[in-house]
Amino acid sequence: MSAVALTLPAVAAPDGAALFARCAACHTRSGAGVAGAYPPLGADFRALAAKPAGRRYLTLAVLRGLSGPLMVEGKTYRGVMPAQVLDDASAAAVLNHVGTKIAQSGPAFKPFTEKEVVGYRASGATLSSAEVAKLHSGAGGK
Ligand code: HEC
Repeated sequence: MSAVALTLPAVAAPDGAALFARCAACHTRSGAGVAGAYPPLGADFRALAAKPAGRRYLTLAVLRGLSGPLMVEGKTYRGVMPAQVLDDASAAAVLNHVGTKIAQSGPAFKPFTEKEVVGYRASGATLSSAEVAKLHSGAGGK
């Protein structure tokens, strides 16, 4: 009988690039968005991600959804983003994909941790999508 290596079942880390496909359906593959409908995931994202209040807003936008009005890079959006069903590790992974591969301008990007997402999710658990959108202007967006 040959030796069989015993390994624990591999729990693959969530793949932020693969998860981004669902965001790209609206925000486009490059993240440039669609003027007047879907905001770009660019300089505003990176500016927000540089501050704690902005990191909370970005996480809650993904987890709770958003309904405007919302001013992003000088343009007003009055859309509705549905809440995205993602566990904590997956939310961190997709935010990190945006911060490193999609949003190409703005301040240096510090990755989101799963623990951070856990905290923001809990602190925003009762917020509506409209209430999340109201966090934007005070959170360091552009
Ligand atoms: C069904 C379309 C749709 C999908 C899918 C979607 N979004 Fe959105 N997203 C929107 C719309 C519309 C807005 C603007 C909402 C508003 O006008 O209040 C928005 C806004 C945002 C914002 C706020 C941008 C800013 O600068 O304040 C972020 C961040 C964001 N989306 C990230 C994501 C991520 C990450 C995903 C994938 C996990 C995703 N979105 C999936 C439609 C979508």
